[in-house]
Amino acid sequence: AKVRRYRWEVTYELQSPDCLEKLVIAINGRTPGPTIMAQQGDTVIVEVKNGLLTENTAIHWHGIRQIGTPWSDGTEGVTQCPILPGETFIYKFVVDRPGTYIYHAHYGMQRSAGLYGSIHVSLPDGISEPFAYDYDRNIVLNDWWHKTTHEQAAGLSSIPFVWVKEPQSLLINGRGWFNCSQAGTAVCNSTNPQCSPFVLTVVPGKTYRLRISSLASLSAFNFEIEGHNMTVVETDGHYVEPFVVKNLNIYSGETYSVLVVADQEPSRNYWAALNVVSRKPDTPTGLAIFNYYPNHPRRRPPTAPPAGPLWNDTEYRLNQSLKIRARRGYVYPPPTTTDRVITLLNTQNRIDGHTRWAVNNISFTLPHTPYLIALKHKLHHTFSQSAPPETYDRANYDIFKQAANPNATYSDAVYRLKFNSTVDIILQNANSMVPNNSETHPWHLHGHDFWVLGHGPGVFDPVNDPLRKYNLVDPIMKNTVAVHPYGWTAIRFVADNPGVWAFHCHIESHFFMGMGIVFEEGVERVGRLPAAIMGCGDSHHLRRH
Ligand code: C2O
Ligand code: CU
Repeated sequence: AKVRRYRWEVTYELQSPDCLEKLVIAINGRTPGPTIMAQQGDTVIVEVKNGLLTENTAIHWHGIRQIGTPWSDGTEGVTQCPILPGETFIYKFVVDRPGTYIYHAHYGMQRSAGLYGSIHVSLPDGISEPFAYDYDRNIVLNDWWHKTTHEQAAGLSSIPFVWVKEPQSLLINGRGWFNCSQAGTAVCNSTNPQCSPFVLTVVPGKTYRLRISSLASLSAFNFEIEGHNMTVVETDGHYVEPFVVKNLNIYSGETYSVLVVADQEPSRNYWAALNVVSRKPDTPTGLAIFNYYPNHPRRRPPTAPPAGPLWNDTEYRLNQSLKIRARRGYVYPPPTTTDRVITLLNTQNRIDGHTRWAVNNISFTLPHTPYLIALKHKLHHTFSQSAPPETYDRANYDIFKQAANPNATYSDAVYRLKFNSTVDIILQNANSMVPNNSETHPWHLHGHDFWVLGHGPGVFDPVNDPLRKYNLVDPIMKNTVAVHPYGWTAIRFVADNPGVWAFHCHIESHFFMGMGIVFEEGVERVGRLPAAIMGCGDSHHLRRH
């Protein structure tokens, strides 16, 4: 195994990802940042210099479990104090499994400002993937706003609430296109070389592995390459029993590998189209060019880009979720029984005039002292010591009605899990505060992969749904999974990774508005914490030791 070293500086830069000039957060001058390329078993060392001058930061390695290095998870407030302006923090961790992962800021809403990128972990020499392809390509998807993330965050926490609204454009590998005639007084230049669609050049007859990931702040996406099918073979670092789709639904925090054969009429180019689903779209289709060599890469395809499935066809998306199974020969069966079931009702609430998201009526807030330090050093006064609720009042709650939930509160309490125990989580969706509206929430678990036991519509039935709808035979393992509108998703994991781990909705504004919880397991087994993660809250005096 090798050591892969990266030296990064995080800075604000003026860039025009969708033609309109805006301050973005870049790594070594670029957004998306550099792709981390490593082999299974390698140690990755990333030296992050915070060059933001007036803002803290932290970077999370999404999908990397951080076994033995919980302090390198990069989750500000959970596993570390923020990296202060001018400071350098060294992340060091082992990439123990092959696959496609991502990284991104885990501080405020900085991810939305462009601080993100990809991690590709290849197999050790001499071992090959269970599928064949000629070339490997990276596709990072994102949604983009022209307002600064500070303005967005201020609106979200204001009374009255100011919603961020739908994105102005969709980015494919950091490129989008905004109609400059609508730019008002902003600097917008459609002849700027940055302002041109991403081009994926393919050689006729060849097979491409596209590693597609979504860093969306808000949107659920549907990705389609005009005229080409895609065979899904990997998700979140796990092999999928291959299935063919015309277009792929992908939620924030998910990664997929798909195989695409350049098998269409080669005398022209084709569109790769990114459409918003699940929310009523108010953003033009994001476009890239699927360029058949040797056609000119800028030559526009002669046809209209795919419009994607109906945005409100929840069943279509649920069915695609249900197709994702572990690949034969690569099935890790889950424990057949569980030690604990935690049911989490996802609601939108108003607390003291603020619009918030809550689980079981509790809206999450981060403490000043990161949990990992507080729990390891028994600084129990630094966060609520009460046990958060295991379920909600199912008999008296109508998930199809606008949430009333007058009793929602703020809390920073954590779920403490018995080390090595098996835990089931039922994520129960509900109506938001808008009548006849329920959103898609992609939930992401730090420090683990979980088995996706099932998805279903309506209210989870604790007797019948596990019997009829749980897949205990070949469930896929993932780190991020969607909870569909008015539906439920059940997952299972083993609490075998000593540390403190966030579990939250990957929509940037939803987590910011309280949609998350934190798990602790085996913290007494965690080794000596590095002083570099300390310094904030009540951990300032620990830093010297
Ligand atoms: Cu990719 Cu806690 O998130
Ligand atoms: Cu959400």
